[in-house]
Amino acid sequence: MITTERLRLRPATTADVDFWIELHADPEVNQFVGAYTRDRAEARLRDIEDSWAARGYGLCVVESLATGEAIGRSGLNWWDQFGETEVGWTFARGHWGNGYATEAARAVLDWGFGDLELKRITAMIHAENHASIAVAERLGFTPRREDEILGKPCTVWALDHPDSDPRA
Ligand SMILES: CC(C)(COP(=O)(O)OP(=O)(O)OC[C@H]1O[C@@H](n2cnc3c(N)ncnc32)[C@H](O)[C@@H]1OP(=O)(O)O)[C@@H](O)C(=O)NCCC(=O)NCCS
Repeated sequence: MITTERLRLRPATTADVDFWIELHADPEVNQFVGAYTRDRAEARLRDIEDSWAARGYGLCVVESLATGEAIGRSGLNWWDQFGETEVGWTFARGHWGNGYATEAARAVLDWGFGDLELKRITAMIHAENHASIAVAERLGFTPRREDEILGKPCTVWALDHPDSDPRA
């Protein structure tokens, strides 16, 4: 559980299935991250529960502290095929433009580099996802390589642990 100035992040569970479907149903939100059928959403949330159990981290539902309403998702996602941990940020369209993604991700990075002692955290972003690239740049991420995620090209942005040797 992470609390910031305006947000609360808590582990996503299968009980969040309705919110998960609704969040990703908006074409402006799902353009680069895809939409979910109920079956896919339930399977994704089960995977997230497994990640929390096995690794001690996973994706979170982000709630507004002011209203208690679920407004987005953030948190950490382990990618087996890349051997990397990614930070995610997706918010309902009505909540863009408030700095929430940057605020949530900053807290997730503090957690990942602090308590979890991760060496590197990535963000896999489609080249035309300008809003997401702006979040990555605000947080200090730099582009490292071109790759493919779920069959689509992306740029892998990354941030290294603040104490890591920049020459390594
Ligand atoms: C990516 C996404 C989360 C970015 O949302 P966002 O609201 O633009 O990003 P932030 O929360 O960091 O907010 C930044 C904006 O809020 C403004 N802002 C207002 N108050 C602010 C505050 N207190 N602090 C920081 N920024 C603030 C900034 O000026 C900036 O506005 P601008 O875009 O007009 O320059 C959003 O576009 C989204 O959910 N997209 C769909 C899902 C997706 O593609 N996810 C990423 C997959 S890689």
